[in-house]
Amino acid sequence: MKLLIKNGTLPGLGVCDLLAEDGVIAKIEKDIACQDAQVVDATGLTVLPGMVDLHCHLRDPGYEYKEDIVSGTRAAAAGGFTSVCCMANTNPVNDNAVVTAYIVHKAETSGSGVHVYPIGALSHGLKGETMAEIGDMAKAGAVAISDDGKPVMNAHLMRLAMEYGAAFGMTVFDHCEDINLVNKGVMNEGYNSTLLGLRGTTRAAEEVQIARDIVLSETLNLPVHICHVSTKGGVELIRQAKARGVKVTAETAPHYLAGTDDMVVSYSAATRVNPPLRLAADQEALIQGLCDGTLDAIATDHAPHHRDEKEVEYNLAASGISGFETAFALCIETLVHAHHMTLEDFVRVACTNPARIIGKNCGELKVGKDADIILADLNQEWCVDSRKFLSKGKNTPFHGRMVHGRVKETYVGGKRIYRDED
Ligand code: DOR
Ligand code: ZN
Ligand code: ZN
Repeated sequence: MKLLIKNGTLPGLGVCDLLAEDGVIAKIEKDIACQDAQVVDATGLTVLPGMVDLHCHLRDPGYEYKEDIVSGTRAAAAGGFTSVCCMANTNPVNDNAVVTAYIVHKAETSGSGVHVYPIGALSHGLKGETMAEIGDMAKAGAVAISDDGKPVMNAHLMRLAMEYGAAFGMTVFDHCEDINLVNKGVMNEGYNSTLLGLRGTTRAAEEVQIARDIVLSETLNLPVHICHVSTKGGVELIRQAKARGVKVTAETAPHYLAGTDDMVVSYSAATRVNPPLRLAADQEALIQGLCDGTLDAIATDHAPHHRDEKEVEYNLAASGISGFETAFALCIETLVHAHHMTLEDFVRVACTNPARIIGKNCGELKVGKDADIILADLNQEWCVDSRKFLSKGKNTPFHGRMVHGRVKETYVGGKRIYRDED
């Protein structure tokens, strides 16, 4: 099977053709001729590697009313993702090979074609007490371990998981929030929490855990990955650690780049997320961190919820933002259109680095890499309308926002899995 993408613009290369054969990129040149290929005219469009999401919640098994592997992978494809890693806070929890295998099998047989890589739980039942079946899950296809949704409060357990995980080539992905410092907060602690009368969470809750993980990683000389960094102080801790050679990697999420706690003033629970939306100074630091390599990746933390869990008072609402279908535009706007980075830099943080972190042969437009590709219109203006999301989760604080940059087509292994019909 051959795919020939004609006249698209490739970052760093200008207008070129791209030929994919048997699922991998075979040629990138001007004016490729090929008799027996499916030809796609990409004139006026940008050709990029499909994005690789290190962190999402597909809710399957157990919470299919929020999302399932079919709806979640369709939403991912529409958002420009060709690989996604899904967290273990399902029901039952993905803490053993049976659940891991179920996710892999369902994604392969009824998903949209997007690669789904499960992340196994770190502890049984996400209880933070005993280590989950890490080796078994690795064999079944898990690519990392994490109790995401919950912090790992027991530092000794964290140490054991880092050591045990390393034996299977699995990095711990940590949701950094000290539960005691969170102290039942529902938003960032500061002027707005005081104004609104909502309970705030100090940024120290996140930074204390990041610092602890860095100390463990440095002491053990083992890798650790920090999930959804949201604060300026967190970026600085990671910057200093990397300068010392600590094996720490980190991600931030599009909503931290595009949103602040000013959005909470609406009292809309769509803005509730853990860690919470922060301040403009944090946004700047996160962008700087992505530009200078302190932060390796952008990950959505796509967290779909049912409207009944969101259309309640702020204190009672579920935390999380449905992120797949807005990620591309929010990142292109805040990073590329805002002139903080080039398109090549964007590819590095959205595709290449995340692929490297999970050890997959994708995330780059190079001969020999998997033909996981998107075609995008970087300038198309559109209005975020969550009612049109393919995700079951309509929970986004960006509903109604005008944005620029739209994914037009998505290919996995040289096969089209999504086309924008809008
Ligand atoms: O806001 C969040 N939602 N943060 C998390 O860590 C978990 C996630 C979820 O599962 O809904
Ligand atoms: Zn998390
Ligand atoms: Zn998460």
